[in-house]
Amino acid sequence: MSASRHLLGIEGLGRSELEALLSRAQQYREGHVGGRHLVGRVVANVFYEPSTRTRASFEVAAAGLGAHVLNWSVSGSSASKGETLVDTAKNIAALGVSIIVVRHQSSGAAALVASSVSCAVVNAGDGQHEHPSQALLDAFTLWRRWGSLEGRRVAVVGDVLHSRVARSNLHALKALGANLIFCGPPTMLPVGLAELGVEVTTSLDAALAGADAVMMLRIQREREAEALFPSAWEYHRRWGLTSERAASLKADAVVLHPGPVNRGLELAPDVADGQRSLILEQVENGVAVRKAILEAVS
Ligand code: CP
Repeated sequence: MSASRHLLGIEGLGRSELEALLSRAQQYREGHVGGRHLVGRVVANVFYEPSTRTRASFEVAAAGLGAHVLNWSVSGSSASKGETLVDTAKNIAALGVSIIVVRHQSSGAAALVASSVSCAVVNAGDGQHEHPSQALLDAFTLWRRWGSLEGRRVAVVGDVLHSRVARSNLHALKALGANLIFCGPPTMLPVGLAELGVEVTTSLDAALAGADAVMMLRIQREREAEALFPSAWEYHRRWGLTSERAASLKADAVVLHPGPVNRGLELAPDVADGQRSLILEQVENGVAVRKAILEAVS
């Protein structure tokens, strides 16, 4: 097994590289690619944090490419006896694994794994750093709908501070030509965000005005985000996408959310399930995007 490429983040990828991945994902999505590029290979999902969408999506994508999938989690493994991340990764790689898909609560964990093993590594979310496959599927969902993201206005709303999805989307959507406006409580907007070439506001109504897409971010309760605003009621009233606010959007504006949704907190249930919502389309598109990613790093 030779040293391989990795996907550790979106930062640093150029527009042409992103568009190549989106084009390949489109071929998978439309069923134009029959290739089972990973027959005889093993893909290991190594998840230190809970996941529904990302882990299952990588599993379905890898199986669709013909790979055997090894699903590893902390519970029941020797990590619960104190084995380190690097030792765990090296031992999994020694089983003959071709690609390790890793999620970890620490920023930089995927890069650490990549520097420790000779197989390919895909970052499935590292702390507050990046979640590249999520950003790619978000971009793909908008790209399929619009044809191009050039000049489109995308509002990214909520717990930006803790969000690896927001960080990866900043790089991906900007590289693809979208105009971004980030919005949230002042306590959830990282210092220096505006210097990254995006608009920043604490006013949700200002963020929504003229938006072609609204990406609502999850309040990350496991990272104690609720300490950063007075109450759930207050948050929903000021920064939640309510039915009334959704009704004020442009007629063809769409709503995205990476999941899992805190219903009634960042997103009203009828908006999550409504006509504008692309949430399940995002999940559906994720399989094709992850096939393109696995193929690219293999
Ligand atoms: N969007 C996302 O990462 O969801 P999961 O935590 O369920 O994988």
